[in-house]
Amino acid sequence: MTPPLFEPFSLKSARLRNRIAVPPMCQYSAVDGFLTDWHPAHYAGLARGGAGLVIVEATAVSPEGRITPGCAGLWDDRHIAGMAAVARGIRSAGAVPGLQIGHAGRKASANRPWEGDDHIPDGALGAWETISPSAVAFGANLPRVPREMTLADIARVQADFVAAARRAVEAGFEWLELHFAHGYLAQSFLSVHANHRTDAYGGDLAGRSRFLIETVRAVRAVWPETFPLTARLGVIEYDGRDEETLAEAITLTKSLKAEGLDMLNVSIGFSTPDAKIPWGPAFLGPVAERVRREAELPVASAWGFDTPELADDAVKNGQLDLAMVGRRHLADPHWPYVAAQALGVDRPAWVLPAPYAHWLERYRPSAPK
Ligand SMILES: Cc1cc2nc3c(=O)[nH]c(=O)nc-3n(C[C@H](O)[C@H](O)[C@H](O)COP(=O)(O)O)c2cc1C
Repeated sequence: MTPPLFEPFSLKSARLRNRIAVPPMCQYSAVDGFLTDWHPAHYAGLARGGAGLVIVEATAVSPEGRITPGCAGLWDDRHIAGMAAVARGIRSAGAVPGLQIGHAGRKASANRPWEGDDHIPDGALGAWETISPSAVAFGANLPRVPREMTLADIARVQADFVAAARRAVEAGFEWLELHFAHGYLAQSFLSVHANHRTDAYGGDLAGRSRFLIETVRAVRAVWPETFPLTARLGVIEYDGRDEETLAEAITLTKSLKAEGLDMLNVSIGFSTPDAKIPWGPAFLGPVAERVRREAELPVASAWGFDTPELADDAVKNGQLDLAMVGRRHLADPHWPYVAAQALGVDRPAWVLPAPYAHWLERYRPSAPK
């Protein structure tokens, strides 16, 4: 019997060879938004390992929307060629090429994680102005107070999302994820920790949802109807208001679905440094299941679905349609092949592309001495 994790999955025209997805993971190795030699090798390597879907890292819709100076961008037509090479490499290894686009909001203008992971000090070489729904800092390692966005800023950023989505089509991506999570710009509109506005983009849930709903509507109008459009949303903050936040997120998800969203990537809000996150194996499973059931939308999720059994169980138990496996893929880009073996699928051709699978079908490693 095929383990549920290795059942194919279809969403619109996307046909995934299994339920394993590589979630977006920033490489902090771009220059002025342009991908470098690192990226095509990295992404093709991940796709060769057997995942059904590989989503390319958070890609900024404008220069000020980058998290760090090393973040990828798609705000200029000249960025398309590098992205197209990455999409081709993923497809040639048998995975669906996906892309995440986003704007970092008040968490932008930061140093790379291995260079401090903190705000580049105001006025220092390489720093840029940050914007957010309100002039409220995140705090902790990101103390910079952002500029409150004007209505013109809001319209401009939404137009930037649309332009980036058009470029993603041109680059050959077949799956688009909007980054509405992790305390970046869109999440900041939704979160009361970041949004203190009194105009149409703040206040009650309808106001705090407006930016996200309008952005999905605008992107859906240019992103091909046959390709999946998804969003990653922090549905829970672990800030002591979890029931309220989750209920709000499910209401918002229903509205996004009405605008043409095809799947939700269920994640954490990261809108406050004071959150008490109950890290543990597959801890978001019940949260994802609730979103899936109440919003009646396919869901994916990451964060600790990182053993073959945990990932397979989450799919089998109806918590997830897709299990996202991040850091284990960095440790072993052939994780899906290893997982298939662990779950008793000794058929490399189910998982790996032919140039690898053909040889491994016949190969039995020498017995250890
Ligand atoms: C190096 C690295 C970069 C990441 N970059 C992104 C990103 O670009 N967009 C995003 O939504 N999440 C990002 N994340 C979060 C991952 O997508 C994922 O949720 C996280 O690694 C947890 O899954 P795991 O337990 O399987 O590693 C990143 C995580 C890592 C480790």
